[in-house]
Formats: sequence, structure tokens, C-alpha cells
Amino acid sequence: MRILIVGGGGREHALAWKLQHDDPSVELLAAPGNPGIAALAECVDLRATDIDALLDLARSRGVELTIVGPEAPLAAGIVDRFREAGLPIFGPTRAAAEIETSKAFAKQLMTEAGVPTARAEIHTDVAAARDAVRRFGAPVVVKASGLAAGKGVIVCSTIEEADRAIADMLQDNRFGDAGAEVLVEEFMEGEEVSVFAITDGVSVVVLPGLQDHKRLLDGDRGPNTGGMGAYLPMTALIPDALDPERPASLANLMLQAGMEVFAPTLRALAAKGAAFTGLLYAGLMLTPDGLKVVEFNCRFGDPETEALLPLLDMRPSLGTLMAKVARGEPLGGMPIDVAATRGAALPAPVQFGFSLNGACVTTVVAAAGYPDAARTGDPITLPDLPPDGSVIIFHAGTARDAEGRLVSAGGRVLAVSATGATVAEAQAKSHDYATRVQLDGKQLRSDIGWREIARAPTAPT
Ligand code: AMP
Ligand code: GLY
Repeated sequence: MRILIVGGGGREHALAWKLQHDDPSVELLAAPGNPGIAALAECVDLRATDIDALLDLARSRGVELTIVGPEAPLAAGIVDRFREAGLPIFGPTRAAAEIETSKAFAKQLMTEAGVPTARAEIHTDVAAARDAVRRFGAPVVVKASGLAAGKGVIVCSTIEEADRAIADMLQDNRFGDAGAEVLVEEFMEGEEVSVFAITDGVSVVVLPGLQDHKRLLDGDRGPNTGGMGAYLPMTALIPDALDPERPASLANLMLQAGMEVFAPTLRALAAKGAAFTGLLYAGLMLTPDGLKVVEFNCRFGDPETEALLPLLDMRPSLGTLMAKVARGEPLGGMPIDVAATRGAALPAPVQFGFSLNGACVTTVVAAAGYPDAARTGDPITLPDLPPDGSVIIFHAGTARDAEGRLVSAGGRVLAVSATGATVAEAQAKSHDYATRVQLDGKQLRSDIGWREIARAPTAPT
């Protein structure tokens, strides 16, 4: 099968790796791809948002499946255009992608559909937003509704900080159109988990949840970033105020996410005439009152994908499922019309169709200056990797310079994924190989997966 991957980061490199790993006969094209992807795919120098050129490429090269990595082409309607042209593509339409591109839309949808999430108000007026902040009290979260490259969420510990965030967004236009509408949101306490689900709009296959590390520095300190690493498996206790007897396990979390989050959300989107197909990403908070949605994304997470795919063994394969969704064939997952009343008896154990053996930890190697102003153009030397295949280096922000040398070309430069029997073992290996990368001024965390390691000896599985 000939597959086109749209995008050029670590997530797209991991997707290319997985597709080829599962089916060595696939022929891969990537646009634009990157020097790492170039080892697996033919890279075509097109912007991920140049939909006309991508359509031409898919047509002229007989592409049978197009997979879209980043949100920007989805928000620009790439899926709508490919479908009009009769070309199979994996991803949501522009209307369904609104679940990521408008936090106001997502919040309204969740409220209507009874999906557990933080209480919030949507405002366009400074005074009204500031009133809301006072009603909620500190700590409080102020969010720009639109896409803001991961920078539009301000967790405010004081009322003054919230007032400033509101002025930045609504008055000073610091986030452009993305900040013309803000959400003032209740602060949620708890551990975060990213859960991905593949859906054809009718049924859903929930993938194992995993944890991202958004802060720059060890111990979850320092500024927020796009993600400095990720790991799985994650065995956090899943609190459920209504049924403390529910076993706390990854399978249970996935079942709960399927029933209480994905099913009602997908039903609500379909009812609006915006049925979602592709990958829906739920950022969840495990609060003392049960799981609640922090945000939705309309695509695979980054760097979560780089940690998930090396470990995920699915039958049928991920590529097969993606091709089915793209062609409009039934996926055969958990139907989204299951009754999902909180506290109702859960259905008998659901077969998820995959196995996870061991653990995977991904450590991101970031450029000097990241996340504010990442320095680019620094030469990179990659270490030799162990022959057992337990370490993979995914390219996130790399390029070739005029002499053909590998150089940094973005904030997050590489994602070093290592598998091992336990999170501790995978962490040690991932960190070891990340430190062996030669890149001037590189930044990386040494503690990806620390929460899991802290709970490891007694954690339920
Ligand atoms: P988002 O872009 O919506 O995922 O937000 C980025 C990060 O801000 C999340 O990963 C959380 O760590 C934090 N955050 C967002 N909303 C809340 C909330 N209501 N309560 C606490 N933390 C939040
Ligand atoms: N890792 C967070 C994201 O992909 O948005």
C-alpha cells in the first residue's frame, strides 16, 4: 500500500516507523517529512498546509491512504478536500476538528453532552471575564479559545494574574484571533493522562492511556512546553467517587474514558452533523471526583505517539485500522451509542485488541533557548544505538544544511524512545541515549516517568 504522511515532526516519524515496522511492504511518502523520516519514506518538500499541492501529489502518485499528523491542515479542511476528491484520508473534517480549534466549542459540546469537565465560562468582554474570575476564585485557569501553539492556557494562582491574562488576550491581542474569546475555568487538581481513541464516527477503539511531561525541568518545574517526554504504562489509581469498588487499572481507565468521554462526545458531534473520524485525543485529569476532560485534540499527541507506538502491538494493526477509517469502512470498536450514565454498571470486560509488553519512555532533546526562542542550525551528532532495537531516535526538529550535515531546526529536536521491562529501566536507557546526543546547549529531562517509578512497588496492575 502507498501511504502519504502529512507533517514533519517526531509524531510523524513515529507513525512512519510503526507503519513500516508492522508491514515492511508499505511504500511511504511524507510531506514535508524530515531527515529521520527520509530513512523510511520519500520526503516531498511541501508544506503540511498546502492542500492543493498535497492533493496533486496524492493523485499523481496513486496514494491509497493519507494520514494527517498536525492540526493545522485539519483546521484548514484537508480532510474535506481529499474526500471531495474521493481520496482516502485519516483525520477529521474541519467542522469536527473544531473540538480542538475552538475551546469554547469543545466546552459547550461537553456541557451539552454531560461529559465530565471543569466548570467554565466563555467571555469576550474584559469586565465580564474578570467578574467570572472573582466568582471562581484563585487558583483559576484562563484560556484563549483558539489555537495558540500550546501557549494559550494560563494557570493563575492569583486573581491579579488572571486579570493580567485576560487583558493580554482580550485587550492587548497577544494571542491574535485565538484570544478574542476566553474561557475562565475552574482549576482541577490531579494527575493528567492522555488517552487516544481511533474512531469511524460510529464506534471507537480506545488506546492505552499515557502521561506527557509538559514542564521544561525535572520535577515538573519551569515553563510549559509542547512536551518534554512521555511514558507508559501508567498505573495511577483511577478515582471514582461514585464507585470506589471499581478496580483501578489501565483497562478500567480506558473503559471509563470510552463510556464517559469518547462515546458521548462523539455522539454529540455526530448530532451536530460533524461526525468525527480519525484520532480523538482526550487530555484527562484524574481528579478526586473522577476523571474530567482538560482538553481535546483532533490528532495524535506529540511526544506521546513516540512513546506509545514502539510498545503498542495491535491486531489488526494500527495501519489497518487507519485505512478502514479513511475508506469509510466500519471499524468494529465499542459502539458510541452505549449508555454512559455515570455510576451505571460497566459492560463486561471489553476486548481492546492489543497487548503492551513492558514499558516505553521517551525523552525529548530540546534546543537551547526552548521554549521561548529556540536556537536552530546547531550541528547534531547521533549516538550509535543498541543492536536489540530497544532505542529509537525520532527526529522532531531536524534538517540538513547546505553541506548535508544534520542540524537542529526546531524547539524539540529529537525524541529518544527506549523500551524496557519496567518504566525505571526504560527511563534509564532513554535518558542515557538522550545524553549521548551531541547538540550544543541541548536541554532534556532526566526524570520522565517519575510518577510511575514513585508508585511502582505497590501499584495495582
Ligand atoms: P491545555 O492546552 O488545555 O491542555 O492546557 C495545558 C495545560 O494546562 C494542561 O495540560 C494542564 O496541565 C493545565 N490545565 C489546563 N486546564 C486546567 C484546569 N482546568 N485545571 C488545572 N490545570 C489545567
Ligand atoms: N502532548 C500534547 C499535545 O500533543 O498536544
